[in-house]
Amino acid sequence: MSEGSSELPFYMRGNHAPVDREVSADSFDVRGQIPEQLNGIYLRNGPNPINGDPGHWFAGDGMIHGVRLEGGEAKSYRNRWVRTRLYEGDETPRVSEEGVVDYTIGHANTNIIGHAGKILALVETGFPTEMTADLDTIGTTDFGGKLNAPFSAHPKICATTGEMLCFGYNFAAPFVVYHQFSPTGELLRSEAIDVPGATMMHDFAITQNHVIFMDLPIVFSLDNLAEQGMPYQWTPEYGARLGVMPRDGSNDDVKWFEIDPCYVFHPMNAYEQQGNIVMDVARYPKLWQAGGNDFDQASLMRWTIDTSGGGVKEEPLDDRSIEFPRIDPRREGLPHRFGYASTTDSSEGITTEHLVKYDLESKTSEIHDFGSGRTPSEAVFVPASADAAEDEGFLLTYVYDADRNSSDFVILDAQNIASEPLAIVPLPQRVPMGFHGNWIPDPN
Ligand SMILES: [Fe+2]
Repeated sequence: MSEGSSELPFYMRGNHAPVDREVSADSFDVRGQIPEQLNGIYLRNGPNPINGDPGHWFAGDGMIHGVRLEGGEAKSYRNRWVRTRLYEGDETPRVSEEGVVDYTIGHANTNIIGHAGKILALVETGFPTEMTADLDTIGTTDFGGKLNAPFSAHPKICATTGEMLCFGYNFAAPFVVYHQFSPTGELLRSEAIDVPGATMMHDFAITQNHVIFMDLPIVFSLDNLAEQGMPYQWTPEYGARLGVMPRDGSNDDVKWFEIDPCYVFHPMNAYEQQGNIVMDVARYPKLWQAGGNDFDQASLMRWTIDTSGGGVKEEPLDDRSIEFPRIDPRREGLPHRFGYASTTDSSEGITTEHLVKYDLESKTSEIHDFGSGRTPSEAVFVPASADAAEDEGFLLTYVYDADRNSSDFVILDAQNIASEPLAIVPLPQRVPMGFHGNWIPDPN
């Protein structure tokens, strides 16, 4: 069947479909001017199944697409599968007959981050996979034998201390484990967190002094695996709660706050304000109610958690369908004025449309429309300099062009998001929509 056949599930069609080649390129017909201060690599991860339909959007083999920028020039593009054990065809079961999980088996398809000089490709079911800057796979890491639980694809790197804070979730107890890393990448401790059941906990948030867990009603269900390709199911009767814990605290210190059933893959950010915790999220009223391809519609919501014992106030900030919320990484866990996201069409899976920039102080927003048939991936904000203003910087993303069935790497001026891009770098092939990426600057 061709890429365009409607008999294929949405994640095997259009720009969700995998590419079948690994490509390297080192010369580009750049339009515009690449900012000279961008020296580093932009890396983006996403599922790119190598052996046909894996049964669910989230289950494909991870592929990284990377662009290196240096001194105002695009130096290279390359895409590489993450050479996981699954990619290599290793058929060892992930869960043994005794129920022991092998966390070195996973697709590494969700995010790619830089921390403490390491580049880590991440998926929430297993250990991180270390990569080189040239996108060669080094292999899974357990941080010197210290990690013995899953590791989320959404660790948070504290902008103030450089610590990495993360968690993992599992279908068997302990269902949630919190991980705290030093700024130099040493796993300092892992702490089991009690929750009532096994839920799909995709992301979490940090503030200056706390972490926030989201225990939401997508609950583990083996029956659902056969029916919908994903062993998790919308179960509103499970309830929904947010857990607030001091960063250095323990399970005994977690305060739980009930909220209405909903699902959140991604917070935009969280911060402390006059004793409360403010958390902006892309909130789905429900998820996967009609099956694993039913994504409903997420919109930007502000939760204000009264940590002195009050409840959680919900305040809609926008009614557009969005996903992939991001902020200036220098504001991680600190008050943010600006946020960025993709507007989405969620009629079938999630397909991005435009980029939106929110000014949450003036309660305004602006759109970048890439043009007819041109759709972005998640956009990553990179500050123009260490002391630049919060929105003084660049938005990096891959943009798919349906007419050419190919993609561009695009740089926008975040302070003038609606304007023409600063630079457009046509790439030698299509970059599928994918999930998450990051800018990894060269060491100073
Ligand atoms: Fe994610």
